[in-house]
Amino acid sequence: MTVVIGIPASAEHETRSPIVGDVVKKLAGLDARVLVQRGATDAAFATPASLGEVDWVDTSAEVIAGSDVIWTIGNLTDADRAALRPGQVVMGLLTPYAGVDHVEALAATGATTFALELLPRISRAQSMDLLSSQGSASGYQCVLIAAARAPKFFPMLTYAAGTIRPSRVLVIGAGVAGLQAIATAKRLGAMVQGYDVRPETREQVESLGAKFVDTGVSATGEGGYARELTAEELEQQRAALAKAVADADVLITTAAVPGKKAPVIVTRAMVEAMKPGSVVVDMAAEGGGNVEGTVAGKDVLVGSARVVGPTNLPGRMPVHTSEMFAKNLLNFTTPMLADGALAIDWSDEVIAGTALTHEGRLVHAGVARVLGLPEPAPIQPPPTQPAPTASEEPNA
Ligand code: NAI
Repeated sequence: MTVVIGIPASAEHETRSPIVGDVVKKLAGLDARVLVQRGATDAAFATPASLGEVDWVDTSAEVIAGSDVIWTIGNLTDADRAALRPGQVVMGLLTPYAGVDHVEALAATGATTFALELLPRISRAQSMDLLSSQGSASGYQCVLIAAARAPKFFPMLTYAAGTIRPSRVLVIGAGVAGLQAIATAKRLGAMVQGYDVRPETREQVESLGAKFVDTGVSATGEGGYARELTAEELEQQRAALAKAVADADVLITTAAVPGKKAPVIVTRAMVEAMKPGSVVVDMAAEGGGNVEGTVAGKDVLVGSARVVGPTNLPGRMPVHTSEMFAKNLLNFTTPMLADGALAIDWSDEVIAGTALTHEGRLVHAGVARVLGLPEPAPIQPPPTQPAPTASEEPNA
């Protein structure tokens, strides 16, 4: 028997591919073969020659009809979603908090959907963590965007007539993307400051050689994530950050709380107080923005600062982000493959914790809570379960 992994073309303008040649080879070793829609991988430079032994079809409908498991970067098109059948598995970044209609439409297909945004952030799941791999790439990319737009050098530069001082970079939000942004700005020679509401990030920021900005606000929430701040805490934070923002040549914001709108940390007045020629890159633009005045997908002027709201940052480096994406999905899928068949072990907290819908209903309690829906009953493992393959070494 063979499990077929299907790759339909992406719904929106997307340059990444969820499959690359190395992963096709690993899947073959697990008795799984890959069915790809022609053209779906072109923008990631995952050419037919580089993908090797895969099957090709012309339409996404043929991919959906011929696959047991669908790998996708983001949500399927409405037509592809409507073509799903009960028991089929879909996995990728499926925007689980996008709304009740979205989740109900997925549930109605009867397919088992895994939204990798929900992956429990425990050590065993790190090799599957799509948000981390794509967030890290995005943190790197947004520093390059800032450096390309800044009217100043990042590093200190000595020339025959004197010395140019390095740029000051402030990074707000020191999660995956923020820490990579700090590391990248340091590598480019800037003077870097970092800030986050979780106190444990101080050590991480300092270990990268950056200075930590202390606002006196501490807000660790559930599961190692930050909690939403109260209005008073937000005010205290803004007051304490105002000077660091005004002193920065470049501000990068990456603050996020899962399932919530991005916190607005930097007000218009704070941006207007920045020096002429300052650059702000607001990574949270698509989620509403951490900076007042950000427009997703646009560069706008606020005072004399250029505020950039980039979208699909990982899509700007599709060769490497596709490689990361495909390996994360491979590592998530591997424990479900046993002897050429699909065997989902619902007692595995990583698998159960990532499931969004199953057998016609929403199954994720956290998503139900955020969307204001009743708490779903947990998935009951079937009495005669095929043996799980979790003991296999993950493919790094
Ligand atoms: P993450 O969850 O690892 O980090 C977010 C950080 O924000 C956490 O460390 C958290 O403690 C911190 N935070 C929360 N509230 C805060 C507050 N009030 N003040 C200061 N810090 C606060 O998330 P990750 O992967 O680093 O992503 C960051 C943001 O970038 C998210 O909004 C995400 O949606 C966005 N993103 C955007 C992309 C794009 O293409 N534009 C691509 C990838 C991520």
